[in-house]
Amino acid sequence: MKGKSLPFSKEKLNQIIEEFPTPFHIYDEKAMKEYAQYFNNCFAWNKGFKEYYAIKAAPNPYLMKILRNQGFGIDCSSLAELALAEKVGMRGEEIMFTSNDTPAEEYKKAAVLGAIINLDDITHIDYLDKHVGMPELVCFRYNPGALKGGNVIIGNPEDSKYGFTREQLFEGFKKLQKMGVKRFGIHTMVASNELDADYFVETADIIFDTIVDLNKELGIKFEFANLGGGIGIPYKSEHKPVDMVKVSNGIKELYEQHIVANGLAPLKIFFESGRAITGPFGYLVSTVLHLKETYKKYVGLDASMANLMRPAVYGAYHHITVMGKENQPARFLYDVTGSLCENNDKFAINRLLPEIAVGDVLVIHDTGAHGHSMGFNYNGKTRSAELLLREGGDVVQIRRKETIDDYFATLDFAGLNNFEV
Ligand SMILES: Cc1ncc(COP(=O)(O)O)c(C=O)c1O
Repeated sequence: MKGKSLPFSKEKLNQIIEEFPTPFHIYDEKAMKEYAQYFNNCFAWNKGFKEYYAIKAAPNPYLMKILRNQGFGIDCSSLAELALAEKVGMRGEEIMFTSNDTPAEEYKKAAVLGAIINLDDITHIDYLDKHVGMPELVCFRYNPGALKGGNVIIGNPEDSKYGFTREQLFEGFKKLQKMGVKRFGIHTMVASNELDADYFVETADIIFDTIVDLNKELGIKFEFANLGGGIGIPYKSEHKPVDMVKVSNGIKELYEQHIVANGLAPLKIFFESGRAITGPFGYLVSTVLHLKETYKKYVGLDASMANLMRPAVYGAYHHITVMGKENQPARFLYDVTGSLCENNDKFAINRLLPEIAVGDVLVIHDTGAHGHSMGFNYNGKTRSAELLLREGGDVVQIRRKETIDDYFATLDFAGLNNFEV
């Protein structure tokens, strides 16, 4: 069976399972750090380069602490994510707040922390001013509309709810200048899970062009361009990771042509990637509870869509390894399911796998981003633990599994006694 590699052996995993019952997500610290270093090294040419880890991908403070130690900032888009940044000890411009349809209290929190505030809409200028006051540094999210072709997950920019139009950018920055704002940034995010390196270079081209035009018309000198996230990962074994050296070289060339040539350097390049940073380095580990044969063969796991909803929601492919059967031929066609009362609670449909037995341990790959974080409690299913495989081989629990008490914590059962029907 053609596979993807794992950072643990079957024996090691069995030891882990003895202490931490399945299902759980486990993250590989060493691989995460190595990728973070690679990412930073690719952009070493750009002074001030920063990757703001999109914490929505895996909102765990332990993972964030590791990434911060590699020089990463944090990209937040909600109050809880800002609070998490604060708890990790992050402050000021190592936090970027990229939100949409934003409540005033979230802008307030971002301002208190000194985060870089990235506005999603022109009307938010007055909203921010009214509720918080204008910070000295403001960024706008640009939606290039028809200038940029869409991609599968994020769709066409013109159909997307995010960002300012080009005209609104000019109007908005002019307004900021009148309001006394002195420092400016620009942001865009037009991809999701994109594997084509050229896509990111093309995005930089659009942004650099826009920066030059804004400078010509308004005299603004931008401090940074945030090129967003969306860097894809090879979910399938035949896919290749995005060549970040190619992305960086392409961006550097454009930087020389547009930014340096127009006297607009230095301009800091930012990314706010989530998936690429932790996605490939997380695994959902689950045990086979049942085998069922009706019109099809079903493998029933102790994990469900509550632990990983990407296959059910996007039809996303996640590679599956059957531990100990890596070298057996994948001759059996299975649907691999969870236990929710939802027919789409399936991790794989019509997947060829080695013959599976009850009790087998299945590892679902690439769950380190938008995996645990997208979990939910439908059917009263509680979310699993998160574990970290440390560089030296130790395993630490970085989030305990939820309990039924957690699930009921928002209900007042005692109130039932006085509740007449
Ligand atoms: C504003 C913003 N930034 C960054 C990201 C991270 O994207 P990815 O995990 O695909 O890199 C997202 C994802 O939804 C986003 O909405």
